[in-house]
Amino acid sequence: MKLLGDRFRSAVGSSFGDDCPFDEQWIKPCNDPRFGDYQFNGALPLAKSLQKKPRDIAETLAGCVELADISAPLEIAGPGFLNIRLTNAYLSNALTSIPAGETSEYDRLGLQFDEAAETVVVDMSSPNLAKEMHVGHLRSTVIGESVSRILEFAGHTVERVNHVGDWGTQFGMLITHLRDVQPDVISDPDSLAIGDLEAFYVAAKKAFDSSEDFANRARQAVVQLQGGDEETLAVWRAFCDESLRHCHAIYDRLGITKLEDRGESFYNDQLAPTVQELTDAGMVETSDGAECIFLDDFKNRDGEPLPMIVRKSDGGFNYSATDLAAVRHRLRDVGATRLIYVVGIPQQQHFAMLFAAIRKSGWAADSVRLEHLAFGSMLGRDGKPFKTRDGGTVKLKNLLEEAVQAARAAIDERQGDDDDRALSESQKQAISEAVGIGAVKYADLSHSLTTDYRFDMEQMLSFEGNTAPYMLYAYARIRSIGRKADIDLDALPADAPITIEHDAEIALAKMITRFPEVISQIVRDLRPNVLTEYLYELTKAFSRFYDRRHGVRVTDAEPESTRMSRLRLCQITARTIKSGLYLLGIDTIEQM
Ligand code: ARG
Repeated sequence: MKLLGDRFRSAVGSSFGDDCPFDEQWIKPCNDPRFGDYQFNGALPLAKSLQKKPRDIAETLAGCVELADISAPLEIAGPGFLNIRLTNAYLSNALTSIPAGETSEYDRLGLQFDEAAETVVVDMSSPNLAKEMHVGHLRSTVIGESVSRILEFAGHTVERVNHVGDWGTQFGMLITHLRDVQPDVISDPDSLAIGDLEAFYVAAKKAFDSSEDFANRARQAVVQLQGGDEETLAVWRAFCDESLRHCHAIYDRLGITKLEDRGESFYNDQLAPTVQELTDAGMVETSDGAECIFLDDFKNRDGEPLPMIVRKSDGGFNYSATDLAAVRHRLRDVGATRLIYVVGIPQQQHFAMLFAAIRKSGWAADSVRLEHLAFGSMLGRDGKPFKTRDGGTVKLKNLLEEAVQAARAAIDERQGDDDDRALSESQKQAISEAVGIGAVKYADLSHSLTTDYRFDMEQMLSFEGNTAPYMLYAYARIRSIGRKADIDLDALPADAPITIEHDAEIALAKMITRFPEVISQIVRDLRPNVLTEYLYELTKAFSRFYDRRHGVRVTDAEPESTRMSRLRLCQITARTIKSGLYLLGIDTIEQM
């Protein structure tokens, strides 16, 4: 917690000198709430660097740290841990001081993150344009968007880059096929419409494999494309634009609006200078006719040095060269100080080598972070690779449509039991869209990144457990409390004091005040499942708070000041859930 960090930092400074080491990570939430809410774990590392006993350090700090407005008197535990227990007065103040909601894109709940603002490039989604987006692109897109939103929320500038595969030999084949089947595209590129990119690719490949003449023309097209032939480039561009339109239809449905298309071809004229610069630095060697970078610590299975090839023996630059040029561009032209690649685990070695090469080149200052946010695969419900019934790849478009339809069925079923809540057709459609798309995203983000997970529509659409429908329903339910109390939750006076007394209020208030730490943690380690877990705990704390038996009265609480205080707690809980879901890329609905 930031406030505790500030207080301990100054206590350590005044006790042991301002250049005494300090780490905010020394303050952690307690694992066991019986010991307290937070623990200061710094006495042990401090003891080491100061050559003192940890217990003495803990005693010194307990005596001087100013926490009277935050915590009950500190307890020293074990070899020198300090246990901190938030007081009700602190919780009441912290919540009362949350300003009224903002009406901008998202509600920051008055939070300030005072880390130095960075420019971050998030490389995400990045399908190959030759084909249709398939389920394999879902994770990169959804994780990339969530991480980007969280970084922006914390005050960083984020550039989301779609590093699409729009270059390479397969485009010769596609261009040739396009010329054959839609010759008008040359004079009128806007006339192009490909209904099914997958079928188009298959037809092109079939022509390539079965006709010598076609194959020759395709190879010729590659040469023309690389040589900058205007007409060939125009056909290529028409194809890429059409393929990108397909991608953006999906991005629109996923609510992804700030993704910048900057494909591999963007770096074409920077490939030679990039490799030249590395050659001048003595990093490039020729091996078997190919230009390679050899890096320490990278060996093949036989223990021999493993090269990072940047230019093939036929003179063509490859995927690695493009990524080197892209890093150079992001560092020098974009001015990024943090580069995040949201790409599956199979490319781990590629990124390890890329980053090692960048470190060796000296292009990136030591403080620049280069991160491969690697994720596991999405598997079918049976735990096997996710495929259609006849073994084909599942198009992302179809998967999303299926999820929305399944959500619709679930909503119709629930409606059946409850005639009071008759919803109009357009409401039902909007709810199905939010629930279906939200469920797919939430399921993805709630799994730890590196494990493979099973795509289980039934489970992700369940209204119980850690799912999007549960979260969305919890949110809509809190909003309905406002309607029930005949009050506009958004219009509650922001200065009405919140008083925290009852156990269920205390537990809820503690969860709410943890929100900024959760965000800070994800800014550091980029794990969105920390946020889904937090939101789940928060909604559970709210359920206890609102429970007739174990919680408190809300809409009919007396006196009025208590009713107001509790309604404000409802409002702030709803805002926290809404902000949290926004940061996962999920839209809330007011009524369900
Ligand atoms: N287009 C690549 C693929 O589909 C992913 C690109 C990831 N980003 C990057 N800068 N290499 O495998």
